[in-house]
Amino acid sequence: MKESTNIRNFVIIAHIDAGKSTLADRFLELTGTVEKRKMQEQFLDMHPLERERGITIKLQPVRMNYILNSKFYVLNLIDTPGHVDFYYEVSRSLAAVEGAILLVDATKGIQAQTLSNYNFAKRQGLTIIPVINKIDLPNAQTEKVAEELSELLITHDRAKLQGEILKISAKIGTGVEELLKAVVEKIPAPKDDFDKPLQALIFDSKFDQYKGIIAYVRIFNGKVKSGDKIKLIAQKSQAEAIEVGFFKPDLQKSGELLAGEIGYIATGLKDSSKVRVGDTITLAESEAAAPRPANSLALPGYEEPKPFVFASLYPRNADDFSYLKDSLNKLRLQDSSLQFEPEHSDALGPGFRCGFLGMLHAEIISERLKRDYSLDLIITSPSVEYKVKIQNKEITIRSASKLPDAGKIEAILEPMVELEILSPSQYLGQIMKLMPEYRAEYLETNYLSSETVVLKYRVPLAEIIIDFYDKLKNVSSGFASMSYNLVGFQESRLVKLDILVGGELVEPFSRIVPEANSYQEGKRVVEKLKEIMPPQQFIVALQAAIGGKIIARETLKARRKDVTGYLYGGDVTRKMKLLKKQKRGKERLKETGRVEIPQEVYLEILKK
Ligand code: GTP
Repeated sequence: MKESTNIRNFVIIAHIDAGKSTLADRFLELTGTVEKRKMQEQFLDMHPLERERGITIKLQPVRMNYILNSKFYVLNLIDTPGHVDFYYEVSRSLAAVEGAILLVDATKGIQAQTLSNYNFAKRQGLTIIPVINKIDLPNAQTEKVAEELSELLITHDRAKLQGEILKISAKIGTGVEELLKAVVEKIPAPKDDFDKPLQALIFDSKFDQYKGIIAYVRIFNGKVKSGDKIKLIAQKSQAEAIEVGFFKPDLQKSGELLAGEIGYIATGLKDSSKVRVGDTITLAESEAAAPRPANSLALPGYEEPKPFVFASLYPRNADDFSYLKDSLNKLRLQDSSLQFEPEHSDALGPGFRCGFLGMLHAEIISERLKRDYSLDLIITSPSVEYKVKIQNKEITIRSASKLPDAGKIEAILEPMVELEILSPSQYLGQIMKLMPEYRAEYLETNYLSSETVVLKYRVPLAEIIIDFYDKLKNVSSGFASMSYNLVGFQESRLVKLDILVGGELVEPFSRIVPEANSYQEGKRVVEKLKEIMPPQQFIVALQAAIGGKIIARETLKARRKDVTGYLYGGDVTRKMKLLKKQKRGKERLKETGRVEIPQEVYLEILKK
């Protein structure tokens, strides 16, 4: 058996904003992977949207060289996102490595995603290095957090904590070198064997105009060279490895990838359906020689993620439909949690119903289609999935526009989640006061330590995807965090809320809301529309309606275009004539009632 004893594969996992990308920056500097002059903050956040918003949305692998005690090591790090909407990126990364740095913010303590990521990594059997970050901050509670963290690790592992919890500042570099040493010393080298047939797990992919689809892989056994004939087992695709290499973090050719390594294989394939994340790549000859069933070389792969939130995307120009399809396919290569299927709307023509892992995910994908693909889109209000009972039948709908007439509906069932909130116990009162506003049913309270409380609730999913998280942060001075799991469906009193602009129903704005909150919600939407709609040449009514009855109204003022501005002094008749012409124009517009709603408004209304 030949193993790579000098390789360490690891991820950094944490709650959002704990400092993963900043720590990765320090590793890149320390190992000389990125030259100092080229270094910029959050280097591995490669998409402009990530930089702008300061969040990681995409996993990013990078290979670093490191010398410790005169021995040469290859360290493969995968930087992962912290936001729960991108958990699928984390789960795929975990399957490609042997160890994880669990990063906890010294000012925040253990947070919901710390806990869920930790449990996830444990289940995968990874070696975990617990680390407290941001110890440089004046409000850091390093010792207290260390105690809490060791309590958690000891209870969960039912064993003594192995070694110390490292305390670092990713920002100024304190303790980072010790951490890198700990990575080498504690995380086991991969046990993969060069001499076995190739098994490469695809954990991510992207499209390259020249090299075709590039599969990001972890080589579990065997080796692959440029020019090798390869086979993607589940998709039954054949291809040639036209280039192989690793991440620096840009692609760097290497000619060969060996067992235990993380790198890429450029397949030359252009059709995105041929390469699926979770599939195993092997050599065509190994596959042919493998014992039947032929897929015995297939690695376990990944479970398809389950989308929580749905929204439809329609190109404003119907001719862009196939370009939109192509763009979605390309995005799906980089974001395998994105799901979509074609759909047709009477009002909006052909489009796609898309499934997302959460609101932030929906927002990011819509933004990317606009920016990276220059698409002008109409985006419908996001919706969860409902089950509707009509005449002894149960149908599933994922959009308010598909809700049957109220008269026909016997019952509507909505998805429920079990919500776990972690918070310092001093905010317990405020959180418990907040929850009933979100139709939450209290389940239980547990203490993680004497100062950290874990609250459990059963809540409709639709309640927590919009602004709940912000409210929770508000009442807990930013300390509370949450995670949730789908637990089933429950009957609720829900109605369809319609929005009319200039007297016309705007289908994309329709949404399903609890009957009890429908007036407030109607008011909220028209108020927001008033704020974000550009003024038109005439007055426009913004109305909310339920079952044809108007329940809220706002008025969008007209932008008075001064058509007579250039006629100073003199000719009054000419002035009158122009004003009359403008009035006629307005009337005509009023008659046809077409108010152009720009894409920004659809995007803006998605946001909280
Ligand atoms: P996501 O991937 O979006 O979850 O964020 P992240 O975990 O990668 O966090 P990121 O590295 O973007 O850091 C979040 C913020 O914390 C940034 O403003 C960093 O500058 C800051 N930060 C990170 N580490 C430290 C630290 O050790 N000390 C201080 N003072 N600030 C830090």
